[in-house]
Amino acid sequence: MDCIYKDSNAPIEARVKDLLSRMTLLEKIGQMTQIERSVATPSAIKERFIGSVLSGGGSKPFENAKSADWADMIDGFQKAALETRLGIPIIYGVDAVHGNNNVYGTTIFPHNIGLGATRDADLVRRIGEVTALEVRASGAQYAFAPCVAVSRDPRWGRCYESYSEDTEIVRKMTSLVSGLQGEPPRGHPKGYPFLAGRKNVIASAKHFVGDGGTQHGVNEGNTILSYDELERIHMAPYLDCISQGVCTIMASYSGWNGDKLHTHHFLLTEVLKNKLGFMGFIISDWEALDRLYTPHGSNYRQSILSSVNAGIDMVMVPFRYELFLEEFLSLVESGEIPMARIDDAVERILRVKFVSGIFEHPLSDRSLLDVVGCKAHRELAREAVSKSLVLLKNGKDEKIPLLPLDKKTKRILVTGTHADNLGYQCGGWTITWDGASGRITEGTTILDAIKVVVDNEAEITYELNPTAETFSGQDFSLAIVAVGEGPYVESGGDDPVLKIPFNGSELAGFVADRVPTLLILVTGRPLVLEAQLLEKIEALVVAWLPGTEGRGITDVIFGDRPFHGRLPMTWFRSVDDLPIHSSGENSLDPLFPFGFGLTTTC
Ligand code: BGC
Ligand code: BGC
Repeated sequence: MDCIYKDSNAPIEARVKDLLSRMTLLEKIGQMTQIERSVATPSAIKERFIGSVLSGGGSKPFENAKSADWADMIDGFQKAALETRLGIPIIYGVDAVHGNNNVYGTTIFPHNIGLGATRDADLVRRIGEVTALEVRASGAQYAFAPCVAVSRDPRWGRCYESYSEDTEIVRKMTSLVSGLQGEPPRGHPKGYPFLAGRKNVIASAKHFVGDGGTQHGVNEGNTILSYDELERIHMAPYLDCISQGVCTIMASYSGWNGDKLHTHHFLLTEVLKNKLGFMGFIISDWEALDRLYTPHGSNYRQSILSSVNAGIDMVMVPFRYELFLEEFLSLVESGEIPMARIDDAVERILRVKFVSGIFEHPLSDRSLLDVVGCKAHRELAREAVSKSLVLLKNGKDEKIPLLPLDKKTKRILVTGTHADNLGYQCGGWTITWDGASGRITEGTTILDAIKVVVDNEAEITYELNPTAETFSGQDFSLAIVAVGEGPYVESGGDDPVLKIPFNGSELAGFVADRVPTLLILVTGRPLVLEAQLLEKIEALVVAWLPGTEGRGITDVIFGDRPFHGRLPMTWFRSVDDLPIHSSGENSLDPLFPFGFGLTTTC
């Protein structure tokens, strides 16, 4: 066959070389360009030879669009790409960071911090498999996950995207890569990208490197460490991802000792590609090139020059692609960006595309639509929730534990901002970028779950904001108070104070003064817990950001499953003690040490 690249039986490297040799400069720089759905018209894709399209957080074809609507949209973009001279398919990327979370009706898993509490790498691998199926059903082939940040500071707004403060736990949880992409067979060449088939998706380990180690936990900030420490603490999980054949790695907005990662030739090229042998492609983060200089967006030409030359292979532009391509072209024509760099980047992108099978199967597989949000997937999420719960206190007197609760408990008061709020339960990166309040998708709140699990004779009273009146003449035998953080994302989540929002502490104290209280904290990170509150309540459960399956919580608090989770982060006493983590010299005197978690028997 004269077109080797079209021959699915030809070796991948031969297909890459053949296709590269046929491409014009414009086709090459187009391949290196990723643009946002909202600007991706079929003519933009065709005329600019765009290599990839993405949905930014929450960017959907229309409100409440279901997976089939997404597949229609993505197939539409793909058809445009297939009409180009060489017919190179696009790959479509989404932030599937806890399930296929942009799409209505999908299964939403706990955010990573909760998965870190489970310590269960096989569970995380299975979550990856299910997430891949639900992403594929929507027509996308590329997930910007896993986040393998090692979060050293809960003040960081992305703490919940990190599995743990502990490198070893994050390393274990990179099993998500094998879930998303499938497991490479023995003898698979190290560093070479892998994808098992059409039920798997291209993964992206992010954000390389040191995103969780910034000073004061400032998002997109600066990580100050020696190279040895950077390697030992923050880089180690990437080695695990690479040995599982991770196809792509996303650069971090943050800097290392004052130099931004996006322009870091040493870390991106010398270390990641040359030393660690990574043969997939490096993608830039959203508008990261625009953020290299102040004011943002200035010195754009310089930003393109320094990041592509540092080793960025695909640029998540995402909006101003015309300007990007114009500047990019002239930088190559002037020789400031060498042709060899362009060819290396395009080879990497094509390699991942051939590995992914997209040339053979460019369009979505509609037979997968039935599995989206199906019972088996929700059961898996429920299992994950139940294993993620961390029990910090059980009974004022340890000999008289409150948990597990009796399903026959007569009169239960359920209250708090998070008892009946699905959006709060899911947190950021759910349906919208920064998450939202209320019934934002299909799922089960804590209150819904309690109502299902208790016996018929139990009486449940739900009140969002109880007052003194709520208690007058009532003799509740128990209160379940669920409070915690509202949804947030990225820099909007940076918080130097870390108090329970919405006066959660006050509410819990008020109720606990009147009724024996189980406090459920829904949170993306450790928060301030005053000694006084801890004394008043009978029991304390940390539920992290559990997602859509509230039944996972009732399974454990009502004793059908034992408590299993252990703290993935040290629980600080006062924000003045931060940063505090188990391996730090300043591990001071935590409120609860890393790894703490009580158990119950069923
Ligand atoms: C985030 C990434 C994400 C990207 C695309 C960025 O702001 O840092 O984690 O993958 O946006 O939504
Ligand atoms: C996008 C996200 C992106 C963020 C970066 C948002 O508008 O929807 O995908 O991560 O901007 O700041």
